[in-house]
Amino acid sequence: MTLREKAALAERTAREAGEMLEHHHAHRIMLKSENDFVTEMDTRSEQLIRERLLSACPEDEFFGEEGGGATRSHGRWVVDPIDGTVNFMRGDRLYTISIAYELEGELVIGCVYCPGTDELFLAVRGEGATCNGKPIQVSDISNLRRAIVHIGFGHRNPEYLAETEQVLFPLIRAISDLRRSGSAAYDLCCVAAGRAEAFLEQGINLYDYGAGYVILREAGGSMQGWHPWQEPLSTGCLLASNGRVNAEISAILNP
Ligand code: IPD
Repeated sequence: MTLREKAALAERTAREAGEMLEHHHAHRIMLKSENDFVTEMDTRSEQLIRERLLSACPEDEFFGEEGGGATRSHGRWVVDPIDGTVNFMRGDRLYTISIAYELEGELVIGCVYCPGTDELFLAVRGEGATCNGKPIQVSDISNLRRAIVHIGFGHRNPEYLAETEQVLFPLIRAISDLRRSGSAAYDLCCVAAGRAEAFLEQGINLYDYGAGYVILREAGGSMQGWHPWQEPLSTGCLLASNGRVNAEISAILNP
C-alpha cells in the first residue's frame, strides 16, 4: 500500500471513530494516575482504530495510548484514540482523534480529526498538508506582539509546571494572546493552519504530537525543544511554530 493509500485509510478510520464517539457519552471514567483520566470510549475508539488499520495493513505494527504496543518496527501506526479526553468527558467539542504513521523511525503521515468542528487535517511526507481537502500553510506573522500562542502546562509533572509558571507572564506580556485548548494535536493543527503562530508544552507523548507534527511540518512549520538541548521528538518538550517567532519565544523560555 502506498503512503497516499495509507493516509486515505487513516482518514476513513479517524472519521469512523469520530462518528462513534459523537454518539456516545463518556461513561465509565477511570483515573490512570493523579489527574489523568481514561474513559471506556478511549478504549473502544482505540480498539476500532487498531482493528481497521491492522486488518488493512497486517504487515504493520501498532502503538496506542491506551493499549501500548510496538515500540519500533518497519512500519508503525501511533494513535491517540481521544486527544483531549477531559474535554470529551466534560462535553467540550474540542477533542481529536490522532493517527500518525512512522516508517523506518520517521513520521511520514499525520491525520487529526476533530469531530466537534468536522475538520480533518491530513499530511503525507513531501506532499503538503490539508484541512478537509484544502491546502493549509503556517502564517507569515513574524511580529511577536501579533502572535497567538497555544500552550499546555505540563500540569501533571511538578517540575514542568514550575518551569511553565516561571515563563507564563513574561510570555503573555510579549505576545498578542494565549490559548489552552486541551488537545495537543489540535494545537499543532492550529499552528499548521495559520490560526496561531506557536504551541508549547513539556512532557507530552508521541501519540499526542506525532500526527500534528507531520501536519505542521508539511504546512511549512517547525518544531524545536523547549530548551535548546532537548530533542523535541524524543523528549516531548516542544516549541512548535510557524518558523518566524520561535527565536523570540525560545529566548523567553530560556532566560
Ligand atoms: C492530553 C492533551 C492535553 C495535554 C496533555 C495530554 P490526552 O492528551 O493533549 O492538551 O496538555 O499533556 O496528555 O490525555 O487527552 O490524550
